Amino acid sequence: MQQRNFGTSNRPVPAIGQGSWQIEASGKADAIAALRLGLDLGLTHIDTAEMYGAGASERIIGEAIRGRRDEVFLVSKVLPTNASARGTLRACEQSLRNLGTDRLDCYLLHWRGSYPLTETVVAFEALKRDGKILSWGVSNFDLADLEEVTAIAGAPECNQVLYHLQERAIEHAVIPWCQAHGTALVAYTPFGQSPALYDPTTSGGRVLEQIALAHGATARQVALRFLLRYPNVFVIPKAARPGHVRENAAADDFELSAADAAALEAAFKLGSPRDLPMN
Ligand SMILES: NC(=O)c1ccc[n+]([C@@H]2O[C@H](COP(=O)([O-])OP(=O)(O)OC[C@H]3O[C@@H](n4cnc5c(N)ncnc54)[C@H](OP(=O)(O)O)[C@@H]3O)[C@@H](O)[C@H]2O)c1
Repeated sequence: MQQRNFGTSNRPVPAIGQGSWQIEASGKADAIAALRLGLDLGLTHIDTAEMYGAGASERIIGEAIRGRRDEVFLVSKVLPTNASARGTLRACEQSLRNLGTDRLDCYLLHWRGSYPLTETVVAFEALKRDGKILSWGVSNFDLADLEEVTAIAGAPECNQVLYHLQERAIEHAVIPWCQAHGTALVAYTPFGQSPALYDPTTSGGRVLEQIALAHGATARQVALRFLLRYPNVFVIPKAARPGHVRENAAADDFELSAADAAALEAAFKLGSPRDLPMN
């Protein structure tokens, strides 16, 4: 599995990881099996949040990684409503308990809320000093938010944002900013918000299908590779079905050519700069 440096840590992390929003909906046994299969295939970056299933996702991951903690790059997120200085410490302790671990590799502010960023950052730095988190980052942060948090404590290690073929707004400024500041860009909902994207009777779907055929790949694998054409991007597809986990891991096996990327860029337009959307 291709590894990339995550943030400024020089820590190699697989470009393709595993999301876990709604993973509990598949039932505990299947969810655990899917996550473990992902680990076996090298998808060792696992993303979760205290919000997901009100802790159920973290607890399932805790079981899935039992005995394998050192293989995993483990990320969780504090809810904005908990992101006061004290609330962040409490939320992190609960996430660590849910996950059955003594540390997170990266801890994110899920999105910006009403607590001043300084409070959250003070808590993140305290957690880091205590070894409870190894790094911290943000999620759903647009340019002005990134600048603001950087002025407090330096650039975040990660910004996790919505990014897929039909939602490329971050290419205007957020990706370049992250590249310039050594911030890992983690793409969530990488398959997009509409299955129609993959409909081969549409012009975009046809382009995806043709490129996939040429690589002996699937349209969804091409969709992941498209996002990974930027060297600081990571993707975290969520998959509870074993076939999906295997397919996502196998997106590591090929690269898009410059011509493939150009054809996709033409088929799925960048659009004008605008505010960062959220899923
Ligand atoms: N920071 C944030 O605000 C934020 C917001 C949203 C998501 N996230 C994170 O990003 C992760 C990924 O985003 P997401 O869950 O919204 O969407 P996603 O990963 O783009 O899509 C997940 C859906 O795609 C299906 N799928 C997975 N692999 C597939 C394949 N190879 N072929 C066909 N279908 C496939 C899954 O089915 P099965 O599960 O049935 O296999 C599931 O229904 C989340 O799980 C979460 O960890 C973060």
